[in-house]
Amino acid sequence: EKGGHDYFMLKEIVEQPRAVADTLLGRVGIDGTLTLDEMRLSPSDLRDIEKIVIIACGTSYHAGLIAKYAIEHWCRIPCEVEVASEFRYRDPILNRQTLVIGISQSGESMDTLMATRYAREQRARVLAICNVNGSTIPRESDGVLYTHAGPEVGVAATKTFLTQLAACYLIGLYLAQVRNLKFGDEINAIIAQLARMPEQVEKVLDTVEPVRRLARSLSNSTTVLFLGRHVGYPVAMEGALKLKELAYMHAEAFAAGELKHGPIALIENGLPVVVVVPSREGRGVLHDKIVSNIQEIRARGARTIVIAEEGDEAVLPFSDELIEVPAVPTLLQPIVATVPLQVFACELALAKGNDVDQPRNLAKSVTVE
Ligand code: F6R
Repeated sequence: EKGGHDYFMLKEIVEQPRAVADTLLGRVGIDGTLTLDEMRLSPSDLRDIEKIVIIACGTSYHAGLIAKYAIEHWCRIPCEVEVASEFRYRDPILNRQTLVIGISQSGESMDTLMATRYAREQRARVLAICNVNGSTIPRESDGVLYTHAGPEVGVAATKTFLTQLAACYLIGLYLAQVRNLKFGDEINAIIAQLARMPEQVEKVLDTVEPVRRLARSLSNSTTVLFLGRHVGYPVAMEGALKLKELAYMHAEAFAAGELKHGPIALIENGLPVVVVVPSREGRGVLHDKIVSNIQEIRARGARTIVIAEEGDEAVLPFSDELIEVPAVPTLLQPIVATVPLQVFACELALAKGNDVDQPRNLAKSVTVE
């Protein structure tokens, strides 16, 4: 049942190319048109949307944070992202022109369910991104996009996260299409790249062996920091969450630009810091800024573990460990950049003797508020 692996988590990590392909299956036409049937929101409903609010918990929340960058860039619709447990207690402003997207792997997280219910009471339109067919959140939503990742047994979300990202991209690109945005060429180019993501993830999986060795060498560390910019920031947050829940280690993510506002004081000799570097494509300034962030922390003694796209020579001189991922458009990079972080956390946890499928104190689906 574990497909020859010792743990479900390892199986679910290697299943990711297929899982992402299944999310895209039947939804991306050869000519680049997208069909999202179960959305049950008509193109005219979608043209009326003035604001998008994404609500989710944990890893699903990180998928939402990444979606915001993509949706605002492609669709020019303001998009907020909030953890579900905070959402309904702050009197949020919602109406018929608000699209609320609830992201939940299980479809049963009580916080997310209560938040989406509240949104519907306020007459917002609610769309669910969910992995479990017929679960409560999609049943109570106006529309749904199932991720079709297949059952995820490991408590830590892996393949369901990558497929949530794919689903978010589909929604963003579909909204851009129905709203007839002027830069149709960019949208079509991204759709073509999205369709190729399963092979890109496969390439990452083929090259993660050094990540395993690195993780094992860090099993005595007490803290690991994660830095990122742009979509690399939520990826860093996801890397930190995986390490906390699996390896029971202190792990924290910062937006790299925030370093100088405080966290840089944490840097000391030998401290492992993972840095997620954005693709160079279209993001030159951002890329240069993060390279100087890496220089700054290294000058203060950090052991830099850099995730960057292949052939990124600018990061080489400052990387104690370099993890290369395929070159893809920046907005899609989280799909490839997250995979080494999953492997890193899993391997480090195994080196500490932890059960990665059943981490202590955690449940797969959190049905209490
Ligand atoms: C982390 C993890 C949790 C879930 C969170 C939301 O690996 O699995 O943080 O992401 O509990 O669960 P769903 O997506 O089922 O609502």
